[in-house]
Amino acid sequence: MSDKNKPKGPHTRLVHSARSAKGMSKDLVNPPIERASTILFERAEDLYAHKPDQRYYGRKGTASQDALRAAIADLEGAADVVLTPSGLSACTMALQAVCEPGQHVLVSDSVYGPTRAFCDEVLAKNGIAIEYFDPRAGAALQSQLRDNTCAIFLESPGSLTLEINDLPAIAKLARARGITTLIDNTWGAGWFLKPLEMGIDYSIQAATKYYTGHSDVMMGAIAARNEKCAKPMADYARLSGITVSPDDAYLVLRGMRTMGVRMEHQQQSALRIAQWLSGREEIAQVLHPALPEHPDHALWKRDFSGACGLFSIILKPVSPEKVYGFLDNLNLFGIGYSWGGFESLVIHCDPQIKRTASPWHAAGPLVRFSIGLEDTDDLIADIEGALGALS
Ligand SMILES: Cc1ncc(COP(=O)(O)O)c(C=O)c1O
Repeated sequence: MSDKNKPKGPHTRLVHSARSAKGMSKDLVNPPIERASTILFERAEDLYAHKPDQRYYGRKGTASQDALRAAIADLEGAADVVLTPSGLSACTMALQAVCEPGQHVLVSDSVYGPTRAFCDEVLAKNGIAIEYFDPRAGAALQSQLRDNTCAIFLESPGSLTLEINDLPAIAKLARARGITTLIDNTWGAGWFLKPLEMGIDYSIQAATKYYTGHSDVMMGAIAARNEKCAKPMADYARLSGITVSPDDAYLVLRGMRTMGVRMEHQQQSALRIAQWLSGREEIAQVLHPALPEHPDHALWKRDFSGACGLFSIILKPVSPEKVYGFLDNLNLFGIGYSWGGFESLVIHCDPQIKRTASPWHAAGPLVRFSIGLEDTDDLIADIEGALGALS
């Protein structure tokens, strides 16, 4: 007889997680989609009893949201998970939940642009001091801590410029001072990076990307390291009315079931394309942390178990028109924001790069690829054909 308690591999866990979550039926492998605002109570006295397992209103979620939360908690090793309507709202809600006016927040300089805009245009206006730090600061971040520092917001690697934050070093110095640490972990997806195991308090996902995997749902998730961290997020979501639809939760969970195999394929394909691009004369630098020449390769090797399909290249200096020509000549890569879907995408990024703590000095324009599930040879041939536009 097989040993039920034997530890299971990550693919097995991803496929089997949440099967016994609240509301799952015994004979279906997927949760029911329960559309509900109203939830009926049998007795009037139950209305205000606040029993932990009592469902009382649709906003709190039904079976598919509960199952998705359980699956993400299992993947990230989290005590609890809050779902939000987009990845950006997960970042912004998490920050709002842990910071108060008069406090100081440190933000990695290579953070996703809209997260940065929220810090500058919303948090700062609400009396929270925002300060950026060099993504490569590591333990040297100590020098930027203030008495009123309440949180450090990380993103590793940065989704355009791919610098890796030294998570264990930053978690250590933050915990010594009771400072909350949060990471946008969309690149590692909880699959290749487990920040909560390194002492980071919150792992945030744009579930829109690899979790969903099919470019058809927007969602975010905030996974909390322990019960103490979980409470402010659950409270904030409850008090502010943040919720997601049961249909969307169903789709994200369905996407997650195949995320492991998708990411393994995308990892291999992206790495091969990155290696091939490294040898091309049109390219000044390939920004992919799994390449030994990447400045943060040692950190990536220490902390990550793999790499997703998102990486960037720096072209040798060329005019913007030539860069547009290169992108327009690609047939298999769609030109569009987002990443982590089944289809390959490309964007040129210079207008998006905003830095203050660690100025960005690149040899030429930055182009970012999200590698999808197409055949790698076809993608390489497509890029090779389009590179002619640069000469
Ligand atoms: C690193 C990163 N974080 C967060 C987000 C926001 O996710 P969403 O588009 O679901 O709001 C994105 C979107 O591109 C992203 O690239």
